[in-house]
Amino acid sequence: MKLLHIDASALGNHSVSRSLTAAIVAELIQAQPELEVNYHDLAAHPLPHWSPVADAGDPGAVLGNAVMDAFLAADVIVIGAPMYNFSVPSQLKAWIDRIMVAGKTFRYTENGPLGLAGGKRVIIASSRGGFYGNGSEAAAMDFQEPYLRTVFKFIGIDQVEFVRAEGVNVSADHKVEALESAHAAIGQVNRKQVIRKAA
Ligand SMILES: Cc1cc2nc3c(=O)[nH]c(=O)nc-3n(C[C@H](O)[C@H](O)[C@H](O)COP(=O)(O)O)c2cc1C
Repeated sequence: MKLLHIDASALGNHSVSRSLTAAIVAELIQAQPELEVNYHDLAAHPLPHWSPVADAGDPGAVLGNAVMDAFLAADVIVIGAPMYNFSVPSQLKAWIDRIMVAGKTFRYTENGPLGLAGGKRVIIASSRGGFYGNGSEAAAMDFQEPYLRTVFKFIGIDQVEFVRAEGVNVSADHKVEALESAHAAIGQVNRKQVIRKAA
């Protein structure tokens, strides 16, 4: 089993999403010690924006192919996705642009687009300064989680699991509460995996 671990936060050791992805990966390894982990820090090693290239040896194309291969090989993908300006960091968007490739992860058919990457488990650690939950006034400004759901659904991954810490910039108390509730959810992530294995 292969696990692809992606971080995108620019905040280094202060990052909430990095601490959550690390905890999720640690939980999954505890449940399945044989997991082979491939780590990509998109802030430390940003991807060039996608562009059409004529030469297959172009460094951007070579990197893009490596990103696609790592994605296709992974059974489980754990992604740190902070909310930056209501959406995802541009580093994460650049990664998404490399995995959304017609003929590889989806294809167009007479009946519409068909996802080709089904069967993978995607767990997203979502961190955000404010509150965007269902029913909140700000829910309509959330272009982060719905966007990520849409991206993965489009390529055939219907069930994306979110571990969420929100309101982390509202106050120190809110941040503590958000982290506690996110870490409680991480315990559930592990339990679900055990249930799936047993099923
Ligand atoms: C450049 C930038 C843009 C941000 N934009 C938003 C935003 O639109 N809405 C929000 O609620 N929080 C926003 N925040 C706060 C982050 O979502 C919050 O600090 C979160 O913890 C970031 O995840 P990280 O700690 O893993 O980097 C922003 C933070 C940064 C650095």
